[in-house]
Amino acid sequence: MTANVNGQLVKIPRHVAIIVDGNGRWAKERGLTRMQGHDAGFKNLRKLTEYIHSLGIEVISYYVFSTENFKRSAEEVDHLMDIFVKLCRHELKTFMKNNIRVIFSGRDEPLPAKVIAARNELAIKTANNTGGIVNFCLNYGGRAEIIDAAKKLAADKDADLDNLTEQDFAKYLYHDLPDVDLMIRTSGELRLSNFLLWQNSYAEFYFPKTKFPDFHEADFDQALVEYTLRDRRFGGIKEDK
Ligand code: IPE
Ligand code: IPE
Ligand code: MG
Repeated sequence: MTANVNGQLVKIPRHVAIIVDGNGRWAKERGLTRMQGHDAGFKNLRKLTEYIHSLGIEVISYYVFSTENFKRSAEEVDHLMDIFVKLCRHELKTFMKNNIRVIFSGRDEPLPAKVIAARNELAIKTANNTGGIVNFCLNYGGRAEIIDAAKKLAADKDADLDNLTEQDFAKYLYHDLPDVDLMIRTSGELRLSNFLLWQNSYAEFYFPKTKFPDFHEADFDQALVEYTLRDRRFGGIKEDK
C-alpha cells in the first residue's frame, strides 16, 4: 500500500514499532525534571498515534517500559506507572472514536495492581475495534517474551514439536502480530534494548536523532520516506539487480 504524504508517494508499512526514547535528555536540555520529560513524551505519543493510524498503518507497537526500567529510581518508576494509568483511562474515548484496539505485551509481575487493572480494562473495552491495533509494550522484554512462549509451548499437550514451524511458535508469543516492517528508535541511540527480538527479525531500522517529545508528524513522514527507499530482500536476490 502507498500513500501521499507532503506531496511524496511513500510505502505504508503494516507494522511500525517505536522505541520511545530521549524523554529524560529532552527534559535535561530544558532544565526540567525527568518526570516532566515523560509527561511531554506521552503527550506527544497520544497525538502521534492518531496521525499514524490515519495513514492506514495496521499495527503500532510502542516500547514504553522495559523489564529493565525497574532499575530506575522509585520516583521515576512511580511517575511512569501513574502516566500509564492516566493514559489508559483518558485515551479510551479517543481509541473508541478511532476504532483502535489496544493490546499490551509484557509480564504482570512486578507491575502495580492499579496498572494491571487499568491496562486490562482498556484492552477489554477496545477488544472489538477493527480499525487498527496499538500494542503497548509495558514491562516488556524480548527475551522474556520468548521464554514465556517456550513455557506455553511446553505446557501445550497438543503441540506437534517435530513439525513445529516459525508460524506455529509465534502463536505462543504475547500476541501473534505481523512482523515489524519499520522499527524507529528516537534520540540517536543505536540499539534494540531487548525490544521485539522475534518480530524485528527483518525490520528496517531508522534512528532519528530527535528525542521523542519532539518527534512529530513531519518526522514520522521522513521515516516513511526513508523506509520507501530501502531495498528489502529478505535473503533473496532481486532479478533486476
Ligand atoms: C523514555 O526515555 C523511556 C521510557 C519511557 C522508559 P528515557 O527515560 O529513556 O530518556 P533518556 O534516554 O534518559 O533520555
Ligand atoms: C528502552 O530505552 C526502553 C524503553 C524505551 C521503554 P532505555 O532508555 O531504557 O534503554 P537503554 O538503557 O538506553 O538501552
Ligand atoms: Mg533512554
